[in-house]
Amino acid sequence: MSRLILDSSQPLEPGSVLWRSPSNIALIKYWGKHGIQLPRNPSLSFTLAASCTDTQLSYELRKDPSDNHIELDFFFHEEENEAFRQKIEAYLTSLLPDMPFLKQLKLTIRSGNSFPHSAGIASSASAMSALALCLCSLEDRFFGTLQDAEAFDQKASILARLGSGSACRSIFPHAAVWGATQQVPGSSDEYAVPIGNQIHEMFKDFHDDILIVSSEEKSVSSRAGHALMEGNPYAEPRYAQARTRLAQLLDAMRTGDLPAFGKIVEDEALTLHALMMCSNPSYTLMRPESLAIIEKVRQYRADTGHQVYFTLDAGPNVHLLYPGELVVDVRKFIEDHLEEHCEGGHVQQDWVGEGPEEL
Ligand code: PMV
Repeated sequence: MSRLILDSSQPLEPGSVLWRSPSNIALIKYWGKHGIQLPRNPSLSFTLAASCTDTQLSYELRKDPSDNHIELDFFFHEEENEAFRQKIEAYLTSLLPDMPFLKQLKLTIRSGNSFPHSAGIASSASAMSALALCLCSLEDRFFGTLQDAEAFDQKASILARLGSGSACRSIFPHAAVWGATQQVPGSSDEYAVPIGNQIHEMFKDFHDDILIVSSEEKSVSSRAGHALMEGNPYAEPRYAQARTRLAQLLDAMRTGDLPAFGKIVEDEALTLHALMMCSNPSYTLMRPESLAIIEKVRQYRADTGHQVYFTLDAGPNVHLLYPGELVVDVRKFIEDHLEEHCEGGHVQQDWVGEGPEEL
């Protein structure tokens, strides 16, 4: 039984908490899950800076908390959003065994993204990590149970994971690993851990320019995508491969070996898409424009020797990863040769960031 219950005989001042939390881009992909949002293989991501969600969670004591319902209003960019409200209500209800105080409160969430909704950028990682951080701030404010910064981040990562798996990695600055692996002491399937102190300084000044090939909704949700791995004939070798690649990538990131880093990162993106192509039903998530960009990036690398690499999520948009010292040259390359493949010429500039902040 959780002891996190408010003393209803005491008055409670209405209040609010507010967090800004970023998206992240996976370099070793999480694809395939089991149990309650547990990963089939460990994954590793860069935490981004510009693509983020601001979430304010306001509360007051409920008049009649006798039923088991969460009382929630939800505003997205200042407009009530019933679809999001229902999703978040179900999520908060699932947390009640651990956080029973949530049903003693009338909650209002106001949330908004720094990037346009139509930008084709997945917002679940930034949104769910921002909300998880708000919930931890609330718990700590009422019960003082998360005074220790490490305990706070760990719980935030667990709560974020329960909302959307990959969101658990957004809690930490620079880079994080989610999933138990011998390579990273303290790693766990239940939460991510920071690895910023284990990587070469170069990776803290790294860019991720997101080439928006299409802003349409994903043709396959990540929930359906993960489920398709269950019947995929390559599932087991894939999980083993992800483990091997994680070890190799960590080595490359520790030593600052960019060509090794880039090879693994690109192989991972193409593997994710190959897995979707050979799932049943099959999905081709890249568009011709995605392939055109990939070809041009390879050619640019061959022509200039510049260490620019691509990755993709489970969609058609291409992320260009490169060290900060190349920013002027690569932005010119994008303008001159890649923007023409983007919807409305849209590119979302991002970079490795410092992690969430309480506002
Ligand atoms: O967190 P989910 O369930 O939306 O899955 C994310 C899956 C990928 O973005 C394709 C890979 C990853 O590790 O982020």
